[in-house]
Amino acid sequence: MKILNIGSLNLDYVYNVDHVIQPGETEATGGRNVFLGGKGINQSMALAKAGADVYHGGLIGEDGQPFLDACREYGVKADYIRKIEEPTGHTIIQVDKNAQNCILLYGGANQMLTEDYIDEVLANFEKGDILLLQNEVNMLPYIVDKAYEMGMQIALNPSPFNEKLDMVDMKKISIFLLNEVEGGQITGLVDPDEVLEKMREMFPHAKIVLTLGKDGAKYAEGEEVYYQPIFKVQAVDTTAAGDTFTGYFLAGLIEGMPVPEILKMSARASSIAVTREGAVPSIPYREEVMEALKEA
Ligand code: RIB
Repeated sequence: MKILNIGSLNLDYVYNVDHVIQPGETEATGGRNVFLGGKGINQSMALAKAGADVYHGGLIGEDGQPFLDACREYGVKADYIRKIEEPTGHTIIQVDKNAQNCILLYGGANQMLTEDYIDEVLANFEKGDILLLQNEVNMLPYIVDKAYEMGMQIALNPSPFNEKLDMVDMKKISIFLLNEVEGGQITGLVDPDEVLEKMREMFPHAKIVLTLGKDGAKYAEGEEVYYQPIFKVQAVDTTAAGDTFTGYFLAGLIEGMPVPEILKMSARASSIAVTREGAVPSIPYREEVMEALKEA
């Protein structure tokens, strides 16, 4: 079984601020860093660092070479990443003194996927392989339909949640990995337990992983439901915490680990990620996560 992630690659321009800037306000920043990020590549890096064999598909500009270098360094298979004339996607991220962030996203090359490109990449995969998607690239409805026709298992992290997802046939999704806000947007509900219940009703054949921020995470599949609390740490930057959880969760699932163990490993991995700055560089390797679990 192979795993393919078709997803975004962003250069993250990260500014440390006292508080997230308000309309009309000017605030001097404490510092600026440029990190590799993008929900897509963050999740591929997390999969690879967790030990999975992952192929990444997506588009970058000439300025995106550091992503190819990082894929080589961390073991993500970059065969399907293509360079185009459009600049690489980028973000402007403010991280406040409480480690919370807000993100302004410029899609760039991430929004230039074409049917030909998707067909070319998917032709290398087959029934039973896993396709992971987020909502930072264009063509999602086409990718989902095509992969479903091929019999691939589709895992969707519907993030960031916006109206573009209305065109995606969610009944074709096998695994949802989402937070309570995204779950609320899909179900129209607020209470996390009700969100999970409604998701189970709407997608009775899907595996559902609902992350709840400081309240942990829940998993449901049919009658099976599990809960995982967070590991408390001093956070400095929460960027990519969810991506780390997603990558680790899928890696554990592919290995056939019991779900409670997968949840624990994923929660520990993301608790380490939030203690470090940046997206890709904050994601821990599996050995570190397992060591930390022994100590806990
Ligand atoms: O999930 C975190 C990511 O969201 C950042 O790396 C940023 O690029 C945005 O896409």
